[in-house]
Amino acid sequence: MTEEKKPEAKAKTETKPEAKAKTEAKVEAKAETKRVESGEIFEEFREHSVAEFFKKNRQMLGFAGKVRSMTTLVHEFVTNSLDACEEAKILPNIYVKIDEMENGHYKLYVEDNGPGIPKQYVGKALGQMLAGTKFHRFIQQRGQQGIGAAGGVMFAQITTGKPAHARSGTGDGKVYECDISVDLKNNQPKISNMVDFPGNYRGLTVTAEFSEVKYDKSEYAPFEYLKATALANPHSQITIVEPNGERTVFARASNEIPKRPTPAQPHPLGVTTDDMINYAHHSKERKLSSFLTQNFARVSDAKVDEIKQLCPGTNFDKMPRELKWEEAEAIVKAFKQIKWIAPSADPLRPIGKNQIEKALKNVLVPEFISVSERSPKVYRGGVPFLVEVGIAYGGKSGHSTKDGGVGLDVKRFANRAPLLFDAGGCATMEAVKTIDWNRYGLKNVDQMPITLYMNVVSVFIPYTGAGKQAITAEEEVVEELRYAVMEVARDLERYLSGKIRDEQRETRKKAIMRYVKQLAGDLPYLSGESNDKDIEKKLLSMIEHKYSKIFEKTRLTADEEKQQQKERDEEIEE
Ligand SMILES: Nc1ncnc2c1ncn2[C@@H]1O[C@H](COP(=O)(O)OP(=O)(O)OP(=O)(O)O)[C@@H](O)[C@H]1O
Ligand SMILES: [Mg+2]
Repeated sequence: MTEEKKPEAKAKTETKPEAKAKTEAKVEAKAETKRVESGEIFEEFREHSVAEFFKKNRQMLGFAGKVRSMTTLVHEFVTNSLDACEEAKILPNIYVKIDEMENGHYKLYVEDNGPGIPKQYVGKALGQMLAGTKFHRFIQQRGQQGIGAAGGVMFAQITTGKPAHARSGTGDGKVYECDISVDLKNNQPKISNMVDFPGNYRGLTVTAEFSEVKYDKSEYAPFEYLKATALANPHSQITIVEPNGERTVFARASNEIPKRPTPAQPHPLGVTTDDMINYAHHSKERKLSSFLTQNFARVSDAKVDEIKQLCPGTNFDKMPRELKWEEAEAIVKAFKQIKWIAPSADPLRPIGKNQIEKALKNVLVPEFISVSERSPKVYRGGVPFLVEVGIAYGGKSGHSTKDGGVGLDVKRFANRAPLLFDAGGCATMEAVKTIDWNRYGLKNVDQMPITLYMNVVSVFIPYTGAGKQAITAEEEVVEELRYAVMEVARDLERYLSGKIRDEQRETRKKAIMRYVKQLAGDLPYLSGESNDKDIEKKLLSMIEHKYSKIFEKTRLTADEEKQQQKERDEEIEE
């Protein structure tokens, strides 16, 4: 007993932290003895499908917040419709209807007049993630992952427990309808209630019910999204029927179907060793040298000779499937040492200066427009892209500020699809932020009626996330956007300074005109001339003559224009 009491007495003399440390050490020692073996931990080991992953991380697909989720759904189905119509060379006619149901759920209905989906593909297209006709192609399209549609179908089933409904027809008298959901565990489509019937419908209609979504008319909501879509796709006709029954048609502004982009081969500068091995091991070519000329853009026989010089240890007559990693690595390294022609613009389909002007005039009715269309460039060494930037001033340009004024509005697009969210991390805003507006006499740009319209097109848009709402700030992309904004800002500066000069001239002219009548009355008296009407006429013609001279002086000659353009280009390049 006495022995047992001793430590207790000692404990009383210990300070509090010492006692705490001791207790922790005891707990640790106890835990040490109960260590969990890895076998026990790995009993919990499981495999997960991509669909399960996106169910858990639905915010990555843009399903975060009720309004945003609703816009994401409209975005995914409408971009699919536009892609499908463009691919089939059809002028898109898209009908979107959103109903609010009594139980607070919403029903979304998206109908297009595209090519439809062949029956054997409908399950995988709408009910399986990472499946589609776009991911593997080197061609500009709005969709690129094979997730969007199945993501929407999944959102319907996880928020209401109901499948989505699809109707498809190819216009040849046969139509089918079915229900589709995603078997999330296996990322496989589940099709039920398939019915075939005769009909002339051509296109795809998807109907689905959702909860955890909300319809409103904010700048992030479907209405604004479709309005912006119409702006970037003047060849499409888009109708929206809102939950209150209001119907709006964004009419087609052009009957020109954008030319179908031509798929391109990868440019040597964008290829990694892993790509090279993959392409080579699946190639049907008999020799490594012909594999290089046939599989990559801009690789001629002469270029193969240059590559051979740089890779002396590789036999270029052997079968491509025998290519080893080290050899592929050496070829990729050689690619970087050779001078290449830039990639072709064939796989890209920009909106074009004329169409952008038409669209901006149509929607914003501005007093001034300028559009800059840059030539194709590459990022990450080999991915072709191109930027287009338009500026509109006056009319309905700009967006309303909280204090009731109007300020700079930036409309962002990627492959003609509007980007409404995540502006902060987007390459477009990164470029806008770096512009010194003072240099263009636009220091109050935040309080001016200006809309900047920025479109990036590429065979692969480097989105920051699977929700496809912001473009990663790749250095080359930001730089191109910057140049384009500087060009249009300079044009606006010229317009505004010309306008100020014209206004000042008019004010001065008006001031002088005020004295003409008086002078014309007084002069006959002073000069002895009798006809004051003649004097007034002469005075007016003198003033007109003088001011037309001043006016001419304020306008630039063709040579001066050219010189100014040259200086501007030099300044931009600098
Ligand atoms: N309205 C439609 N008409 C014809 N085919 C369609 C339509 N909607 C989808 N598809 C087909 O279904 C596939 C899957 O669509 P989904 O939206 O999931 O992926 P995606 O558009 O290829 O890429 P992303 O995930 O970037 O949207 C498409 O690649 C296309 O082949
Ligand atoms: Mg899609």
